[in-house]
Amino acid sequence: MFRVSSNVGLLLVLLVGQVHVNTVNSCCRGRRFSTQSASNTTVDPEEVRRFQALASKWWDEQGEFAALHSLNDLRVPFIRDNLMSLHSECQPGRPLGGLKILDVGCGGGLLTEPLARLGGHVLGVDPVENSISLARLHSSSDPELGGRLRYRACTVEELLGSEEDVRGEEKEAGEGPFDAVVASEVVEHLADLETFAFCCGHLIKPGGSLFITTINKTNLSYALAIVAAEQILRIVPQGTHDWDKFISPLDLERLLEPHGFSVLTVRGMLYNPVTGSWCWSDNTEINYALHAVKSAEEPPHRQEVPEGRA
Ligand SMILES: C[S@@+](CC[C@H](N)C(=O)[O-])C[C@H]1O[C@@H](n2cnc3c(N)ncnc32)[C@H](O)[C@@H]1O
Repeated sequence: MFRVSSNVGLLLVLLVGQVHVNTVNSCCRGRRFSTQSASNTTVDPEEVRRFQALASKWWDEQGEFAALHSLNDLRVPFIRDNLMSLHSECQPGRPLGGLKILDVGCGGGLLTEPLARLGGHVLGVDPVENSISLARLHSSSDPELGGRLRYRACTVEELLGSEEDVRGEEKEAGEGPFDAVVASEVVEHLADLETFAFCCGHLIKPGGSLFITTINKTNLSYALAIVAAEQILRIVPQGTHDWDKFISPLDLERLLEPHGFSVLTVRGMLYNPVTGSWCWSDNTEINYALHAVKSAEEPPHRQEVPEGRA
């Protein structure tokens, strides 16, 4: 989502959108797999190009990503409190201590850093290499983050491929399987949610958590995110959002269930563009946060597909 210009005197409930794209990194050497989808890639090159163009802006709190900065007021406690309720061994002061967390589509690390500050061992991944470079640079100025925060320029399917390649060998600290995967304001930018769900199902430990924040697919989200924000008020560049990529909580739940997930919580989130702040709401028609837990059983197995046939 983009910052609302000061002459907009309208209290508008707006969504977090974003922009981006890049050079798709190829950190996954080799292994291919087959999901229920035809493409087997989450990457939409047009999205990556858009985020690539904005990669220097992540840490400008008044800039294009202002709404993501303030979204931390809701999403950090949402993730922390839900994880604490599942992991009773969490220590006070370091509530996410000992937990391995994957932040998918981490961008410049706006959410990745606070999760590491809460004690989590966090890996942030994003296909936009310039965003990852900036995230590394920004975190390097905080010694408190120490060895608990790492970044890789890759997608979730590339990460899963490389996890498979090293299975049985010693892994670097911070690699999966993960106690939690977070994808905040990301799924509405992916080419293929089936591949995303499949990969999450294999990267998360049994009993582990999946946290998603995204935009519902409703008439209201079309009116506010596309018509008002992009076409009338021009507070978001035209073409930022593709309504076809928005997804309802019910459809997200239907997508996740076959991959071993049970949805525990869905909460609506509202953005006030005048104050630049967020609040929780019973209304999930625009933005919402979802917490799902993976069952103790293994998710459906992938099929190995020979190179060139996937
Ligand atoms: C709206 S931003 C959200 C960034 C971050 N999660 C936050 O909330 O601060 C969307 C992010 O998704 C990333 N992205 C786009 N395609 C992706 C893909 N196929 N896999 C992972 N991340 C992707 C973009 O590069 C961008 O950083």
